[in-house]
Amino acid sequence: MTTTQGSTTITADDEAGQAAFDAVIAADSRIEPRDWMPAAYRKTLIRQISQHAHSEIIGMQPEGNWITRAPSLKRKAILMAKVQDEAGHGLYLYSAAQTLGITRDEMTEQLITGRAKYSSIFNYPTPTWADMGAIGWLVDGAAICNQVPLCRASYGPYGRAMVRICKEESFHQRQGFEILLSLMQGTDAQREMAQDAVDRWYWPSLMMFGPPDDASPNSAQSMAWNIKRFSNDDLRQRFVGMLVPQAEVLGVTLPDPNLRWNDETGRWDMSEIDWDEFFEVLAGRGPMNAERLRIRRDAHEDGAWVREAAAAYARKQAARVEDTREVA
Ligand code: ACO
Repeated sequence: MTTTQGSTTITADDEAGQAAFDAVIAADSRIEPRDWMPAAYRKTLIRQISQHAHSEIIGMQPEGNWITRAPSLKRKAILMAKVQDEAGHGLYLYSAAQTLGITRDEMTEQLITGRAKYSSIFNYPTPTWADMGAIGWLVDGAAICNQVPLCRASYGPYGRAMVRICKEESFHQRQGFEILLSLMQGTDAQREMAQDAVDRWYWPSLMMFGPPDDASPNSAQSMAWNIKRFSNDDLRQRFVGMLVPQAEVLGVTLPDPNLRWNDETGRWDMSEIDWDEFFEVLAGRGPMNAERLRIRRDAHEDGAWVREAAAAYARKQAARVEDTREVA
C-alpha cells in the first residue's frame, strides 16, 4: 500500500522501516548500512562524516609543514607518525561515509571545488615549532572531547571508526602537551614562543565545537538520532574544564581574563567568542583557506597517475582471478 505526504510517496515498506528505525534509536542501539533509515538521517550522516574526513585530510597540512623542520630526529619521527595517523583517520571516515551511498570521488570533488566544509581550525597558520605543541594540546584535545561521545553514535560504521581514532588522538594530545612542557621548561624565548602559540590557538580551538547552541541548526535533530550526544556549548564547557588544570601544570596562561568557574551556574564564565571570525573562516575567508585548498587540489592532480596505476593493477588482478576460475 502507498500513501502520499506532500510530494513524498510513502510505501508500507517505508512505514515498517521507520518503525524498526525508531525502535533501534529508542533502544540506543545501532543502525547498520543495510538497515532502512530515513533519507534525512542518511543525508546528515554523509554531511557530518564527510566533513569530518575532509578535516582529517586538510588537517595534515599545518603539521606536515613542520616535518622537515622538526628540532630533532625523535620529534620528526613522532610528527610523521601523527600526520600519517590523520591520513588514516580520513580514510576510515571516507569508508564509513561510502557505506551510506556516496562515492569517494564525489566527496573529493566536493572538497577540492570548495563546496564541502572542513573544520575551521585548519585555516590558521603554523609559524613556529610551538604551534605543534599547541595543536596537539588544544586542537587534538578539543577533537577528543568532541569525538569520544561519537564512539556511541547510532550509525555503526561511524561509531566504530571513532573508537580507533580516539585512541590515536589521545596520543596526539599527549605529544602536544609534552612539546609545550619541554618549551615551558626551557629558555625565556622558548616559554614566550609556547605562550604565543597558546594565545593564537586557544580561541580557534573553542570554535571547533561549532556555533552556540541557539545558533546550531543541526544539533537538535542529530541529538534526537543519537548521532551527537552533547550540545556544542556543553562540549565546549567540558573542554575548558579539562584545560584549566592542564594549563596550570604547563605554566601557560589561557588568554581569557574573564575565565572563571561559576558555582551558581555550575559552568565556566568566559568572554564572548568572536563568532564573526568563525563565520568568516567558514565562508572561506580565513587566513589559510585558499592555501589549504590549493595544496589539496594540486596533490589530487599530481596523484592522478597513482590512481590510474592502482586502477590498472586492480583490473589486471581481477582478470587474473577470472582466468583462474575459467581454467578451474
Ligand atoms: N568548522 C567548520 N564548520 C563548522 C564548525 C567548525 N568548527 N562547526 C560547525 N560547523 C558547520 C557545521 O558543519 C554546519 O554546517 P552545514 O550545516 O552546512 O553542514 C554549520 O556549521 C552549523 O553547525 P551545527 O548545526 O552545530 O552542525 P553540527 O550539528 O554538524 O555540529 C560539529 C558541528 C560539532 C563540528 C559536528 O559536525 C561534529 O561533531 N563533527 C564531527 C567532528 C569533526 O568533524 N571534527 C573535525 C575536526 S577534529 C580533527 O580533525 C582533529
